[in-house]
Amino acid sequence: MKAAVCEGYGTPEVVRIREVPTPVPANSEVLIKAGATTVDSGDARMRGLHVPRGMGVAVRLRFGLTKPRQPVFGFDVAGQIEAVGAEVTRFQPGDRVVASRDLALGCHAEYVTVAEQGAIASIPDKLSDRDAVALCFGGSTALHFFERGKLAAGEKVLINGASGAVGVMAVQLAKHRGAEVIAVCSGANAELVTSLGADQVIDHTTEDFTRNGQHYDVIMDNHGSATYERVKSSLKPGGRVLMVYGEVWPTIAASWQKAVVRGTASISTAHLENLMSLAERGAIKRVVDWVLPFAQIVDAHRRVDSGHKVGSLVLTFGDDH
Ligand SMILES: NC(=O)c1ccc[n+]([C@@H]2O[C@H](COP(=O)([O-])OP(=O)(O)OC[C@H]3O[C@@H](n4cnc5c(N)ncnc54)[C@H](OP(=O)(O)O)[C@@H]3O)[C@@H](O)[C@H]2O)c1
Repeated sequence: MKAAVCEGYGTPEVVRIREVPTPVPANSEVLIKAGATTVDSGDARMRGLHVPRGMGVAVRLRFGLTKPRQPVFGFDVAGQIEAVGAEVTRFQPGDRVVASRDLALGCHAEYVTVAEQGAIASIPDKLSDRDAVALCFGGSTALHFFERGKLAAGEKVLINGASGAVGVMAVQLAKHRGAEVIAVCSGANAELVTSLGADQVIDHTTEDFTRNGQHYDVIMDNHGSATYERVKSSLKPGGRVLMVYGEVWPTIAASWQKAVVRGTASISTAHLENLMSLAERGAIKRVVDWVLPFAQIVDAHRRVDSGHKVGSLVLTFGDDH
């Protein structure tokens, strides 16, 4: 099968499409024939080692010293089950599913194995593979942080970085929870985030949201510029900061603050089922920046590196583009 192999750390050109052995599902795994996957900020960060300052060595120790130990990136996949292991009971060949391998990666490939007990959910008939996969990375991350931050109906939440993969899902999911949503993005994306339900949009290129006198129950930082030190005076009593991305020192400085939720999002079947169900009912929709054929994965990495993609960047396999 073809897979996108990351042959070192560096620019997008280190990613090459190669022939690799097709994986064989273990007894408790399913084998998915990929219809669509995404190239996410996480893939681009790891490929280029665009990690928080001071974290380069730790990341190399964890993921590979001179090149990635798992050279095939990709957090999520949507497609059709091709084969199942002997102990699998929930799925059968032909089922359409969306799944995440999270930090085990490996989804930038024509075939992907996923544990039946991993993060895997059926795709409703109404949704295409590209619809389903575009909801995963950002949607699961937003759900994870809203759960841990206990975002409640009636609360006022500011989402810094509201137009990327996490942001567009966070805006919609926060509205769905009954929160008042203030979105921070560039002016070019104001109309989009308003259409997703934002009650107010702040253009980060012209306005500093920490200086407008407003106060929030929850501030979600998807960009790294809303550090606890910078935003603490914009929090209401009992307010929380959801640090989806943060540089090392602001993260360490905030680590003793009970008001700060940080760490890596974990993606579960429940998250994926929730996202599929909400999308099926029209309560949320996917936002897609570019759809490219798998063969153009290097272009996809370049686009993600811009730091200004809008929603998810989807790659399709076969004829589905
Ligand atoms: N903790 C975790 O488990 C976890 C999980 C997923 C992602 N992440 C991290 O979360 C971050 C966001 O991920 P993503 O996939 O949503 O990234 P993305 O799709 O690349 O989006 C980044 C967004 O940042 C916005 N932005 C750029 N400059 C900004 C500024 N000065 N102020 C405010 N916003 C600005 C951009 O909006 P405009 O173009 O409108 O400026 C863009 O929409 C990434 O750093 C990623 O590594 C962490």
